[in-house]
Amino acid sequence: MVTGGCGYIGSHTIIALIESGKYDVVSVDNCARSTAEAMRRVKEITGVEVKNHQVDICDRDAFFRVFEEEGDIAGVIHFAAYKAVGESVEKPIMYYRNNLGTMMNVLEACGKYHVKHLLFSSSASVYGDIKDLPVTELTPLGEAFCPYAHTKQICEGMIRSEIVADKELTALILRYFNPVGAHPSGLNGELSPDKPNNLIPIIMQVASGKMTQMAVFGTDYDTRDGSCIRDYLHVCDVADAHVKAMEYLMDGRNTERCEVFNIGSGNGLSVLEMLDAAEKAVGHKLNYVLGDRRPGDVPAIYSDSRRANELLGWHCQYNVHDMMESAWKWEKHVGLELRTKN
Ligand code: UD1
Repeated sequence: MVTGGCGYIGSHTIIALIESGKYDVVSVDNCARSTAEAMRRVKEITGVEVKNHQVDICDRDAFFRVFEEEGDIAGVIHFAAYKAVGESVEKPIMYYRNNLGTMMNVLEACGKYHVKHLLFSSSASVYGDIKDLPVTELTPLGEAFCPYAHTKQICEGMIRSEIVADKELTALILRYFNPVGAHPSGLNGELSPDKPNNLIPIIMQVASGKMTQMAVFGTDYDTRDGSCIRDYLHVCDVADAHVKAMEYLMDGRNTERCEVFNIGSGNGLSVLEMLDAAEKAVGHKLNYVLGDRRPGDVPAIYSDSRRANELLGWHCQYNVHDMMESAWKWEKHVGLELRTKN
């Protein structure tokens, strides 16, 4: 079972699970921040029809009915959550209610329906502002800089508490860095809000002309070119990490009942370097200005991913050019679809 299967990372993970040839997949997603169209895209790419139960996971009874209907669920991958940092500052209670509510019901269902394996979508934001780079799984968690990051810290704690009580359950916490890009076919990608907040969707909207201009948020950081450094990785690599992580649990290769993995490329790239890569992929200059710092941004963060490399046998297959090329393909595909519909 994939919760949030119609979302950006969820839908790419469903594709990877199907392509592994090992799983029957079912999705649960109320499509609050996604559309059921995602399952059509999954079918277009894989040829497999995946059922999405359009159910709010915070609705405990409705969610439990999905388990009654579906029968044995071997593993749950829990993506369903809100993830916009700025919105979480404006509407913290909405974030706590949704992200913690879904987590509680997922954990309770795992106990009630004897689910043995759980993967949880956490975030590098749990580390807070880290000076000691790269970040390893042993790096102590910092103070959460927004309610969204705090919900991820609390969910990690909930899982740790629950596995003590639920002796059947084993879990992995996957802390993603910056997933970007789209399926190489250009047929599946991130459905951004009208005003996206993240770097790549913004770059792509500037490239396609949907936005006229963008800003580099800060050029006076203590980094190699003054702009912020992040660990960007291709969404299909993130998806593949889930397939490998689920195999790791199912094979019983874990040594603890709850383990943590950083899911990052291990490389830090600056905003200016990303813009340069984007210009190469789209084939023209992008209209950007050098702007002020964005409040809440950390200067640099990137992952030490050796644990995932060694134990999961997971390595990134895609480079920054692939990330930009696929994102651009997707941007053009979405634009074309919208124009055809209108
Ligand atoms: C943000 C969240 C993170 C969350 C992730 C996915 C923060 C501090 N972190 O990561 O918790 O998991 O989104 O939703 O908000 N940038 C520009 N110009 C722009 C947009 C972005 O220069 O118009 C820069 C930012 O300053 C940053 C980098 O691009 O340095 C990446 O930004 P973004 O894509 O928003 O990701 P994060 O901030 O790393």
